Amino acid sequence: MGKLTRATGVREENGRDKYFCEVQLYGLSPPVYPTPEGQGTSSPEWTAAYTKARAFIAQLTFDEKLNLTRGFTGSCVGNTGSVPRLGFKGLYFEDAPAGIRGPDFVSAFPAGSHLAQTWDREYMYAYGKALGEEYYGKGVNVALGPVGGPLGRVARAGRNWEGPGPDPYVTGVQMEEVVKGMQGAGVIACSKHFLFNEQEYRRLPNELGESMSSNVDDLTLHELYAWPFMNALKAGTGAVMCSYQRANNSYSCQNSKLLNGILKTEFGFEGFVVSDWQAQQSGVSTANAGLDIVMPDGGFWGKNLSEAVTNGSVSIERLNDMVTRTMASFYFLNQNDSYPEAQIFSPTVQHPILDVRSDHDKVIREIGAAGHVLVKNVNKTLPLKKPRYVSIFGYDAEVKAVPWTNPLRYGGGYEVNFGWNTFNGTLIVGGGSGSNTPPYVISPFKAIQDRVIADREANSEVCLVFINAYASESFDRTSLSDKFSDNLVLNVAGQCSNTVVVLHSAGPRVVDAWIEHENVTAVIFGGLPGQESGHALVDVLYGDVNPSGKLVHTIAKKDEDYGDLLNSTIDFSAFPQQNFSEGVYIDYRAFDRNAIEPRFEFGYGLSYTEFAYSNLTIVKTGANTAEYPSADVSIVQGGHPELWDILFNVTAAITNIGDVAGAEIAQLYLGVPGAPIRQLRGFDKVMVQRNSTAHVIFPLTRRDLSVWDVVAQKWRLQTAEYNITVGASSRDLRLNATLQL
Ligand code: NOJ
Repeated sequence: MGKLTRATGVREENGRDKYFCEVQLYGLSPPVYPTPEGQGTSSPEWTAAYTKARAFIAQLTFDEKLNLTRGFTGSCVGNTGSVPRLGFKGLYFEDAPAGIRGPDFVSAFPAGSHLAQTWDREYMYAYGKALGEEYYGKGVNVALGPVGGPLGRVARAGRNWEGPGPDPYVTGVQMEEVVKGMQGAGVIACSKHFLFNEQEYRRLPNELGESMSSNVDDLTLHELYAWPFMNALKAGTGAVMCSYQRANNSYSCQNSKLLNGILKTEFGFEGFVVSDWQAQQSGVSTANAGLDIVMPDGGFWGKNLSEAVTNGSVSIERLNDMVTRTMASFYFLNQNDSYPEAQIFSPTVQHPILDVRSDHDKVIREIGAAGHVLVKNVNKTLPLKKPRYVSIFGYDAEVKAVPWTNPLRYGGGYEVNFGWNTFNGTLIVGGGSGSNTPPYVISPFKAIQDRVIADREANSEVCLVFINAYASESFDRTSLSDKFSDNLVLNVAGQCSNTVVVLHSAGPRVVDAWIEHENVTAVIFGGLPGQESGHALVDVLYGDVNPSGKLVHTIAKKDEDYGDLLNSTIDFSAFPQQNFSEGVYIDYRAFDRNAIEPRFEFGYGLSYTEFAYSNLTIVKTGANTAEYPSADVSIVQGGHPELWDILFNVTAAITNIGDVAGAEIAQLYLGVPGAPIRQLRGFDKVMVQRNSTAHVIFPLTRRDLSVWDVVAQKWRLQTAEYNITVGASSRDLRLNATLQL
């Protein structure tokens, strides 16, 4: 039976059972078959890679091909089969987005959300590059990152901190830069999780029934959740990981609309799709829907895939395409050219030392500092001016090392990070597969103490309180604050008239229990800064680095202000349903639409100086502004190439009117007719000396100005007036203008 969907405006036949009929507007995934064969036509590099891949595959036996489509037990979290007679050792996959998880002598980078708080493209690239060098050094072919999903729809979801946050533009820019950096170091980036894995609760099937179905309309798919993946693809990502949960009632790894349709047709993906670990829920359907590798073992493939190809349920062309795509990515990254031997060892086994950290501690410290967000600073409390006596409070000030173990908490999740228990110690990263393995942790306590000793300080002038908010893969949060930490702050503030709060948080953390307390004179959202946490903080506290970080999600006054997007959807039925009926209205878009005043808005952050904005200019380029992109142009990886054409350049002048040099992150919000009142469509970070002016530039692409036309199935420019505002945050808008299309 068919249903009219807002998404496509057409009736779709689902041909499925009664459970699906209960889903109203959402929840239908149209069939898209067959899988397009990878062609390598996106660029000369892809063409060369495909030529080599085809030549390699021509030499393989049927069983050798099958072995490349699946995982085997090995030294990494994922290991494909090998072809020893041709010298191919197989592909090694390892977690994760914030540092290689597990081995020794690797660095613990800031989390993805922390990196995003820098709003700094150069740092994003440098992060990817440094991380990629470590993967390369350990001989890992595929790095399981960056993360662009979860995007952060649900405020309390467990994994929001792994990626940049709920704005698709920031997430897209970061994925693009991290992919470029990682692949620039020779490693295949695996952008994940495709798509709609926005909560942990029932992400996998269990005794109650199937996994959660994220029911999302076609417009929201394009304008919000798939948007950042387009950037990752444009940057050349060689791999994409399909996610655990169901998408419109079809498991993501067997969802032909998502894999064959969106990824491999509309976005022109040339590389391979790998399943999340144990995410494969069927054999033939996954093969025909566009899955290329199953992890971590044979899943429903192995012998069954051999049988399916033999009896024609899966074509031999599809099998060849799986292997061609995989090997094309391998050649695209020139990994045939003396790639280091994989050397990942369990810390409990005697093994040679392979230290891949280089001088990455420097960039980790810089990004650590640049990602700190100052949100309150009364009477220039900060920077500290060599206070003679500093008191330090709170469980989050010190390191309490959890040994490298897998305590199998929370239903078998991975808990291998430091500070995994909320009150255990300082928090530098969240938990689960997105965690990392710090070689050391510079705690706030250590770094501040070192500084105090160096400054020969004594006697109390400032009280620093450290608290955190933990989150992890495999469970969602139940609160955005905790009483213990709030009371700790209130108790210190009750005794100390100069209380500075530092908060390490995996996702949003509400602060209204104490933010207006008169003795709380400064507050820093310290993010998840990685191994150099204390140093990065001291750099900011003492003003060696002028803070420039800005929030990448809205901090509400109270949990309930996030409305229906506060909690994960709880559903005990056999076919649980989660309707993304809010469409693109998540985070600041929802706060704007519902006129809810946040405590700290998206994009907010203070500096030790002040900036004035002036001189907004809009210059039209010569690019084609026809309603739709040209019909006769071939799709390349990343989608229709004209989507990236720059149609306008917007500039503004930023003047530093304060006392010290500092960097400002200027943001451009666009009011596209029919879309949310404002959506971020540009940001630029500039360093400005005292009494000087610098210019920011925001190139606006065709995609930035378009809406997704669900009927035409194309990105469309409207003939209309578009509002442009430029400011210091999503609510501190300083300049505005309109542009006419
Ligand atoms: C499950 C996680 O969802 C994914 O992000 C990770 O890469 C794999 N496990 C492998 O650890």
